[in-house]
Parts: sequence; structure tokens; C-alpha cells
Amino acid sequence: MSFGREEAKLSYGGYLRVQDLLSLQEQRSSPPQHDEMLFILIHQVYELWFKQVLHEMGAILLHLERDEVLGADRLLRRCIEIQRVLIQQLTVLETMMPVDFLAFRDHLMPASGFQSAQFRELEFVAGLKDERHLRTFAPDSPEHATLSRRLAEGTLPDALFALLRRRGFDAPPALAGGGEPARADAYDRRVRALVRVYREAESNYALLRLCETLIEFDGLFTLWRFRHVQMVERVIGGKPGSGGSEGAGYLRSTLDRRAFPELWEVRSRLGAGDGYGAHSDDPGGFGDAQAHAPAKVDGGPTDGGSGDGPAPGGGCPMGY
Ligand code: HEM
Repeated sequence: MSFGREEAKLSYGGYLRVQDLLSLQEQRSSPPQHDEMLFILIHQVYELWFKQVLHEMGAILLHLERDEVLGADRLLRRCIEIQRVLIQQLTVLETMMPVDFLAFRDHLMPASGFQSAQFRELEFVAGLKDERHLRTFAPDSPEHATLSRRLAEGTLPDALFALLRRRGFDAPPALAGGGEPARADAYDRRVRALVRVYREAESNYALLRLCETLIEFDGLFTLWRFRHVQMVERVIGGKPGSGGSEGAGYLRSTLDRRAFPELWEVRSRLGAGDGYGAHSDDPGGFGDAQAHAPAKVDGGPTDGGSGDGPAPGGGCPMGY
């Protein structure tokens, strides 16, 4: 191993553009406040991981389109491991005391994580589309263009239910319009299709694995939201957000968002005898689990089942 300079060869720093990367943490506080470096850096790290997850999502959607269930599952499992890192990282930021943050908070107003375009892209790909988020960005900005494209593109739930239909399941797509009864009916049929996957697990093993991976992904998304709001409360308490929302109150109102309400609903419909290959004359029906079925599932029939609508309650920068 030589420690001398090797001019012509590609180097570590050259390949990874390390100098460029390290020049991107510009503190705005003056004199510079110690914890602002951590604050900037950790947000940048999040954005890099968001980029990687979006990169994976492109491939996952392609795999699903091509009926490559195991290929999709493998990359979804990678996204799940990244989600764990994203959740774990919040503890680093929690070493910042409330007064440390207040020392530079004024300098970042009115910037906010609410304006993270990649976070919205992730929500959109997961099926949690809300057109109003486009308003956060100037109509001629690259973020607006990318989000508009994502809004028009297929989502993970779309891809899952299309796959089920190709495998012979009655799993209609989420309806954009069509009236409440039609949407409720389509939602119920999607749930029944999934119940069948779980009931006939032996013959649907790859699909079952995929469903379990997707519900884990969905659950970790919510877990990040929860840990984020908990950290927010620890750092700024009940103060309004820098982006103009009421702060923790708004963030708490987002905790019910589910990408796959149908997968959560399946749990209410399975009975004790439904394990591993058991068949029923009531495929996907309530059977004897009917008593446990909730009257209304969040993000369910009323919203077509592919992501919920705007979070209830006021206080967010967009007036949700
Ligand atoms: C001291 C640290 C942090 C505080 C006090 C904080 C506070 C807040 C608040 C109050 C909001 C609500 C919108 C607003 O009015 O600004 C928000 C939204 C958001 N923050 Fe943070 N945040 C922190 C760290 C982070 C980090 C590290 C990320 C990682 C990317 C992040 C990502 C987001 C996202 C994506 C939203 C939008 C959530 C949604 O609309 O569902 N935040 N944050």
C-alpha cells in the first residue's frame, strides 16, 4: 500500500466528491452556534437516505409490474432497514437541548421539514397522495415538476393490487371518484382478496411475505412520524413550527395516515382457524370475526383505500 499521491488514478475523494459534500454545511447563525452543524448535517443525511429509498422504489415498482415478487420484497426489505436507521438517527438530534436549538432557530425561519419535496415524493409513492403539497413549491421549480410527475404515477398499493388481479384475485383498483358505495365496495373486495392471501398462505407464500413486508414498511413510516413528533415536543414543546403550523398538534394529526389500510383491516377479519392453508366457505368475509370489525377504518372506504386524504384539524402551514 502506497501512501503517496497518485495523480491520474481515481481516488476515494474524487469518486465520492467528498470535498463537494463537505462544503455543503453552511451555518447561518452568526457567531456560529455549535449545534447548528448537527442540525444541518442530519437533515442532509435524511435527504440522502430519502433519495436512496426513492431510487429503490423505482426498482420495486418495476419488479411488481413484472410479477417479480421476490425481487420487490428484497428491495423493500432494504428500505425497511433504511427506515430503521432514519428512526434511530433521531436520538442523535435529541442530544440537542431546547436552548441549543433556540440559539439558532430564528436563523432558519421560515424553512421547515414540511417543505421536504423528497418526503412528499415518498408519501406519494406509498399511495399517500395529496395534491395540495404541490402548492408548497413555486410552479416553475424542479420540486413542483417532480412532485407533479409523482402525482400522476403509480403507487405501491396500485402495484400490489394490480399484481393480485393478474394472479386471479378480485382486487379492484382504488377509485378516484365513483361515489361512496362504489368506493366502499372496491375497498371491501380488496380486503377480501388479501384475506384470501392470508388464509391460503401455503399456496400464496411469496404474496404473503410481500404483504407482511409492506405492512412493516407502512408501520415504520408511522413510527418515524411518531418519533419525530416526540422529538419535536422534547425540543420545542408546544411552540408553533418554523414552517407556520401549530407544531406538535399538526404532526400528531398525521399519525393515522396509512398507505395500506386494507392490510391493517385484514387483521380484523381473520379468525382463529384461518392459519396456513385452512379454507373457508366465506373467503375474505367476516366469518366469525365479524364482531371485531370496526365500523370505519381510517383511510378506508371513504378515500378509496390508497392513502388517506388531508390530515384533519387545522394548524398546518397549508391550512389542513
Ligand atoms: C429539532 C429538530 C426538529 C424540529 C423541532 C422539527 C419540527 C417540525 C415541525 C414543528 C413540523 C411541522 C411543520 C412546521 O410548522 O414546521 C415539522 C415537519 C416535518 N419535519 Fe421536522 N423537526 C425537526 C427535525 C426534523 C428532521 C431531522 C427531519 C428529517 C428530514 C424532519 C422532517 C420533517 C418533515 C418531513 C416534516 C413534514 C411532516 C408532515 O407534514 O407530515 N424534521 N418538523
